[in-house]
Amino acid sequence: MQSLQIDTPSLVSPIPTVAIGDRSPLILGVMASGSGSNFEAVALAIENGRLNAKIAVLIHNKPEIKAIDRAQHYGIPTVFLDRRNYPTREELDRAIVGTLQAHQVECVVMAGWMLVVTQVLIDAFPDRIINIHPSLLPSFRGIHAIEQALAARVKITGCTVHLVSLEVDAGPILVQAAVPVLPDDTAETLHARIQIQEHLILPQAIEIFTRT
Ligand code: GRF
Repeated sequence: MQSLQIDTPSLVSPIPTVAIGDRSPLILGVMASGSGSNFEAVALAIENGRLNAKIAVLIHNKPEIKAIDRAQHYGIPTVFLDRRNYPTREELDRAIVGTLQAHQVECVVMAGWMLVVTQVLIDAFPDRIINIHPSLLPSFRGIHAIEQALAARVKITGCTVHLVSLEVDAGPILVQAAVPVLPDDTAETLHARIQIQEHLILPQAIEIFTRT
């Protein structure tokens, strides 16, 4: 049986990289709740000189996640903020803002942060918070985007990097990439292919911020 080409190019043109040294690195704070493969894609882009940025801190809201190991590998400090210690989401976000400001963060990257943010965080970093979502927004918002795409029997789905607004998965879109849905796809196989594209477009989207 003929094998199918599963990697698709990004829908966007490659964004030229600003030469390292032209300006000081953009200071990033990354927020993650799980594996942290997108966090690592950003760290790798910085290490390879494709992104003029520095990750000052990784904030996580679950203990013992793989993202912590990845941060240690790159020498990036981690801060655990347990939501159970904060009676409201606003109070959790105030702690997040305090941590980000203590690390002089200029741009916040939600890389698989599985909590809804409040106005507290948005007000502290207006138009400076980006999120990665595993669908071609505005289709399939929310936490089960991949299952929604499979249930809808779409032939193409993908991933989106967008600015964060109070409405979930609804802020202005920065970069998208398309991924075909194959006939025998499961949520796992489709997610794995979407993640290949996520790891490309997240550093691209951050690159936009390094030029603003
Ligand atoms: C990604 O698929 C992202 O789109 C979603 O959460 C997942 C995080 O994956 N918001 P990882 O932790 O970066 O591997």
